[in-house]
Amino acid sequence: MESLIRAWDGQSVIIRFDRAANAWIFIAIHSTRLGPAVGGTRIKSYSNLKEALRDAQRLAGGMTLKWAAANIKYGGGKCVIAVPPDLDSQARTRLLRRYGAFVHKHNGLFYTGPDYGTSSEDMDIIAEAGAPYIFGRTQAAGGAGNPGPFTALGVLTSIKVAAERLFGEAALAGKRVLVQGVGSVGRELIKMLHEAGAEILISDVDKAPIEYFKGKLGLKSVPPNAVYDEPCDIFVPCAVGGVLNKENISSLKCQAVAGAANNQLGNPEDAISLRDRAILYIPDFIANSGGAIAIIGMEMSGWSQNEAEKKVIQTIRENLSNIFELSETDGCSMDEAAFRIADMRLTAQNPA
Ligand code: PHE
Repeated sequence: MESLIRAWDGQSVIIRFDRAANAWIFIAIHSTRLGPAVGGTRIKSYSNLKEALRDAQRLAGGMTLKWAAANIKYGGGKCVIAVPPDLDSQARTRLLRRYGAFVHKHNGLFYTGPDYGTSSEDMDIIAEAGAPYIFGRTQAAGGAGNPGPFTALGVLTSIKVAAERLFGEAALAGKRVLVQGVGSVGRELIKMLHEAGAEILISDVDKAPIEYFKGKLGLKSVPPNAVYDEPCDIFVPCAVGGVLNKENISSLKCQAVAGAANNQLGNPEDAISLRDRAILYIPDFIANSGGAIAIIGMEMSGWSQNEAEKKVIQTIRENLSNIFELSETDGCSMDEAAFRIADMRLTAQNPA
């Protein structure tokens, strides 16, 4: 773990062992150049702690880019809580309370919100001691609620932009779209894609959401290990990160990748492999920025839901058109172009 921390390009890592829950808390502060570090809290079981730390670090880096690209004056951070797989719900609740107090103790160095493995209801519990540093509480508790539908709207926008580039129109009727991961974002996205008339394929390691959508919408499913070989127009990763790598990119049978998962590429060269295969890649930290944009706007600037939706669509469309332009004029990959645009916003700021 020491070498991971030393080699990281971020600012600091706060580590706490919560003995009562046998859980490890990693708060990775990647950059506070634009403002306080803000990022979700992920709760997951990991096979080892290095993996959890690395996840926190990479996700925090992604948040720096996400805020910069969205022109929101926050820095990048993320919290990963690595829990034992058998943590019961009462012990989990007590852990959330202690975690809230821990976030509060840092006086606004780090603000947090929902992420993989946490909900708005969890944010309500964390906020008991963690307020005012907690975003995305339920509406009943005064927050803006679940970011999932807004993230899904941003992904839908990205898919439409990809369709415009590939097929000359945003219409998704009859387009074959493969959604990997039917969680809080995936299921909202599936409903939107269904309304748009897309032919939807779904995949998840968990059987329950697959059965639900088979029954409800008659959707077909693809086994988790077969998603990278399944012919489709657009592949939509909405599960955990690091799903694409050199090997599976070479077997992909899609024309575009646009999804909600953070850190979709195992490493930056994968963006070049995708480009070489003429697969259009919508950079993850652009495609999945909708939830963060909407929740912050509603809670900090008083946007209505309708305003938030408009802003999500507008921000993502503008960013993507700038990214297309830069990648065409400079011949760089979509990921590189997105990174450069975010980096320009970061370095344009006067150092504090
Ligand atoms: N999980 C969100 C993301 O990855 C983070 C977030 C949500 C931050 C809501 C603030 C508010 O973008």
